Amino acid sequence: MGEAPASFDARPIGDLICPEPDQRPDMWPWSAKRLDNGVLEIGGVSLTDLADGFATPAFVLDRADLAGRANVWATAMAEEFWDGYGMNGGDAFYAGKAFLSSDVVRVVTDAGMGVDTASLGELTMVLRSGVNPAKVGLHGNNKLDSEIERALLAGNKEGIERIFIDSLYEVGQLERIAQKLGVVARVMVRVKTGVRAGGNEYISTGHEDQKFGVGAFDGQLDEVVDSIASSDHLELRGLHSHIGSQIIGIDAFVEAATIICRLAKQIQERTGLTIPDIDLGGGAGVAYTGDDETPTSPIEIARAIAGAVRDACAELDFPVPHVSVEPGRSVVGPAMVSLYRVGAVKDATLGDGLKRRYIAVDGGMADNIRPALYGARYTATLANRVSDVEPVRSRIVGKHCESGDVIVWDVDLPSDVHAGDLLVIPVTGAYGYSMASNYNMLTKPGVIAVESGQARWIMRPQTIDDLLELDTGLASLATANDT
Ligand code: LLP
Repeated sequence: MGEAPASFDARPIGDLICPEPDQRPDMWPWSAKRLDNGVLEIGGVSLTDLADGFATPAFVLDRADLAGRANVWATAMAEEFWDGYGMNGGDAFYAGKAFLSSDVVRVVTDAGMGVDTASLGELTMVLRSGVNPAKVGLHGNNKLDSEIERALLAGNKEGIERIFIDSLYEVGQLERIAQKLGVVARVMVRVKTGVRAGGNEYISTGHEDQKFGVGAFDGQLDEVVDSIASSDHLELRGLHSHIGSQIIGIDAFVEAATIICRLAKQIQERTGLTIPDIDLGGGAGVAYTGDDETPTSPIEIARAIAGAVRDACAELDFPVPHVSVEPGRSVVGPAMVSLYRVGAVKDATLGDGLKRRYIAVDGGMADNIRPALYGARYTATLANRVSDVEPVRSRIVGKHCESGDVIVWDVDLPSDVHAGDLLVIPVTGAYGYSMASNYNMLTKPGVIAVESGQARWIMRPQTIDDLLELDTGLASLATANDT
């Protein structure tokens, strides 16, 4: 045998089989199950019915699962930071960038979460969905005036509760806009704690050499705090840290929590300002393939950071602040799957007797850019049937004009997978739809919510007309040209 190609997973065939819902319930919506006829069902609806009655490709959201995950986060934070334990309250804000729709916003807020946003689009959608501005945050390292204005005018000038200041530049910008509007902006300062964490360099956001936050140890934080303190239009509510995304384990969260408490104490000693709030960001990881590390549960994370905050505050003789977190991926990731229909299947001859099966589906990198962008790994299984024929190492690819258009790099699928079969990819709820594009002028798939045997679009699929409407030149050309 020759050298395996770089991305070839050399494990024996059969080692990369997607776990069934009953084997790895954490990787599937809670209602997912394989029916006796071999068809996968989610929310009481079979995926074959969804494919035939709605469309492929599609994202499928288990609403009850999403509500459950949101509830676990909200409850874990409320419980671990309960006043009765000597704490000062805890909250969880859903990081809307993972996936937003008004229905999702309703589900997570009904479950007790607030919502964090990072752009005018996200903020507008969340406010228009009816979320109480007191339960909304605004992030961004380069906020536009229009974003800040919208945040400050929300709820008829009550403004949203948390605007996260990312630089000294932004202090001036916020002060100018708050003054113009005649309001006081409640702000938190995003700090670089120096903690390095996260699934890869693109999503590691706490260390010095990246664009988010102000330096904690080079005088920048002091400068920002002093300039907020000297403004009549800004009120310092707290400190914020988001160290990264797809983090497994609790050590990095504990380290960041401890550092943030120390920084809060230093600010108090230096300026006399109290720091009533700290936010420890998102980042809890999820399992994508079944052979990756087992993620830490929200309860373990909440308990660990509560312990770290309690210990640090006791040691520093500092009043325990209110604590919030901003999970995205761990709330919506496993609540959704992607459903595709198989088209072309072919084998590539790699030499030295090696072959790789390429299974093409009707979506691709435009509805899931993560494998191409980060080398992210997923797994897949047949949704419309089971098969006991020998598995073959397969690569699931899309229909875009790029060889990097891969959805699943390596998975062992039955060798009889053929055109017309349905494939389901678990754990695509976070950063799938929200990072989707229209590359090759493919329309974005819709999102079907399933619950108690009912299914409905919560985001309808885009149409070609949706795309063409943007083209100012096309409007004047007769549709007769289409024929
Ligand atoms: N808070 C802040 C300030 C954030 O920047 C993020 C994510 C979160 C919370 C939520 O983090 P989560 O719990 O979802 O890990 N597109 C990448 C992930 C980018 C994360 C950006 N910030 C991916 O697909 O892996």
